[in-house]
Amino acid sequence: MKVLAGTPELREIILAAKRGGLKVGLVPTMGALHEGHASLIRAAKINCDFLVVSIFVNPKQFGPAEDYNAYPRDLKKDLDLILPHGVDVVFTPEPAVMFPSGFSSNVEVDGGISEALCGKSRPGHFAGVATVVAKLFNLAQPDIAFFGAKDYQQQLIIKKMTVDLNFPVEIVTLPTIREQDGLAMSSRNAYLRPEERRAAGVIFKALQLAREEFKEKSPWEMKRRLKVFIENEPLAKIDYLELVDPETLTEATDGHKKVLVAAAVFVGKTRLIDNMVIEKK
Ligand code: PAF
Repeated sequence: MKVLAGTPELREIILAAKRGGLKVGLVPTMGALHEGHASLIRAAKINCDFLVVSIFVNPKQFGPAEDYNAYPRDLKKDLDLILPHGVDVVFTPEPAVMFPSGFSSNVEVDGGISEALCGKSRPGHFAGVATVVAKLFNLAQPDIAFFGAKDYQQQLIIKKMTVDLNFPVEIVTLPTIREQDGLAMSSRNAYLRPEERRAAGVIFKALQLAREEFKEKSPWEMKRRLKVFIENEPLAKIDYLELVDPETLTEATDGHKKVLVAAAVFVGKTRLIDNMVIEKK
């Protein structure tokens, strides 16, 4: 396993892999790896011949008041987690390598899918994500790139960008990996104090409730019910909770048989997101 921090070294090794006819897989991450990332790496290993994992805490996707500086960074721990998986390259560039002074380009996916949900609460976030992912695609030239469904809106935006900009990359989205109480695995779970960690279970409980009760309720009624349910937990504060069309992320109507329930909830100071696609059978 090679750990590379520079772009010429990465380009060289990718070129050699491509020349050898190998199918390249990319798992882009911001480090603080957990079982969710491990599941992406395992799938990539099965489906590709040459596997790149990137670890880069991308400053462009954090707002000025967000947790860029506090975001957990532990390269040694991350490398220990990656090591058993047969990864070929770990790419860990410094911010100045990805965004040298004078960098002035921006990749933005316009329209509803970027403006809805997290797009409202985190202006500029998805442009930051799209810009760094476009760069990673150009550098690693993957045939397949792997993302988690916890970041549902992110994978939708990346799929759109990939089509719009003709990246020859297949985007694979894999299911959210959860803790025993259903809490979606996230690097930010590490911020939670014990009582907050317990309270955070309310998010998945709400999604399960939506799955159970959606058949009897309109999206509007369901949304109201879920908001009350979550707000019953004193440590939880809703940023947004929406039932939307899974493709367009526009508000679900009574005619929708299949909806995405998406939530962002502050538990203490930690903002957690989760989602579930549910259907009326
Ligand atoms: O999902 C993440 O960890 C990040 O948004 C990504 C895709 C690695 C881009 O920085």
